[in-house]
Amino acid sequence: MKNVLITGAAGFIGSNFVRYELEKHADWNIVVYDKLTYAGNLDNLKDVAEKFGGRYRFMQGDIADREAVFGCVKDNGIDLIINFAADSHVDRSLTEPGSFIMTDVYGTYVLLEAAREFNIARFHQISTDEVYGDIEAPGRSTEEDKLHGSSPYSASKAGGDLMCLAYARSFNVPVTITRGTNNIGPFQYPEKVVPVWVTNAIDGLPLPMYGDGRQMRDYQYVLDHCEGIDVVIEKGALGEVYNIGSGIETRNIDLAHAILDLLGKPYSLIQTITDRPGHDRRYAIDNSKARELGWQPGHTFAQALEKTVRWYLENESWWRKIKSGEYLAYYKKQYAGREI
Ligand code: NAD
Ligand code: TYD
Repeated sequence: MKNVLITGAAGFIGSNFVRYELEKHADWNIVVYDKLTYAGNLDNLKDVAEKFGGRYRFMQGDIADREAVFGCVKDNGIDLIINFAADSHVDRSLTEPGSFIMTDVYGTYVLLEAAREFNIARFHQISTDEVYGDIEAPGRSTEEDKLHGSSPYSASKAGGDLMCLAYARSFNVPVTITRGTNNIGPFQYPEKVVPVWVTNAIDGLPLPMYGDGRQMRDYQYVLDHCEGIDVVIEKGALGEVYNIGSGIETRNIDLAHAILDLLGKPYSLIQTITDRPGHDRRYAIDNSKARELGWQPGHTFAQALEKTVRWYLENESWWRKIKSGEYLAYYKKQYAGREI
């Protein structure tokens, strides 16, 4: 059996990944270690706990807490660490950057120290294409490109990546990194654009669109990303970075139209608001290095969005529970008074 520590897996991508891996690898025991911030939600793992109770364990903790992390790695005889834990939303990083630095940089360092101390067989870091900054068409970011984080979020993720590569080079910690594009799918907290727009549209509420809506993102289905991470952990070379994304670019305005079309709602729900400071215009990656390992994206943009919208329609109780109390205060602070 392999003992795997997966941090931040009470969030969106991590919870999908844990479900995927427990199905795929009958020889994996998984310990999920998560601080349960506003984005951490044990409802995301409820079915996992019921189905895989014997091979799944949850521990609440902060990755920046050295004593707790070292205790967890030692007590569970961990062989493999996969780090999803992060403060992950650009808009929040513009108002509270300190916690991004603590988790995404310092927390990554603490995990790397644990990997070094206990001779972990592999440390895999989950990163993002946002570390490259925006890129003009028709360019595509490759793994060799310089890092140019535009927001405190992307700068913190870049700091985490550089620390991983430094630990690989200086201390021979067996590191791999994947840089994923924007994920969509089940269990995404309704602060990122797709779940905000889908759940607002279901309720006939405005879809807030930053600036001219011509910004481009690569929206990939979350399980395609999980599959890519799994392939890199199995076949990726130590010390290497791999981009994971669909390779398909979509403008925000076209995303809004596609969501409204799927839900049969009018385009008049789109509401232009003031732009995000420092907003990156276009992300686009070259995913050929990951493809060379035998991975390929399994969904077109239309398939990924259709599955995602269907999930939010069929799981209203999940997001309605979140979209109350604290969330409403966040939403008001984030969006009030920005209408143009
Ligand atoms: P999320 O915000 O949904 O979940 C983050 C999880 O990390 C939460 O469960 C939270 O409780 C936990 N966490 C936060 N701080 C912690 C700490 N100090 N200690 C322990 N746990 C902590 O994020 P997500 O969208 O699932 O993203 C997961 C990872 O993937 C992040 O590293 C993010 O940078 C990266 N990523 C995300 C996307 C995307 O589109 N969402 C794209 C590429 C890469
Ligand atoms: P987001 O989901 O925050 O991801 P990213 O980390 O790529 O910024 O935003 C995706 C795109 O959607 C980005 O160009 C900003 C835009 N956006 C809106 O137009 N309205 C919104 O309410 C949000 C959250 C994002």
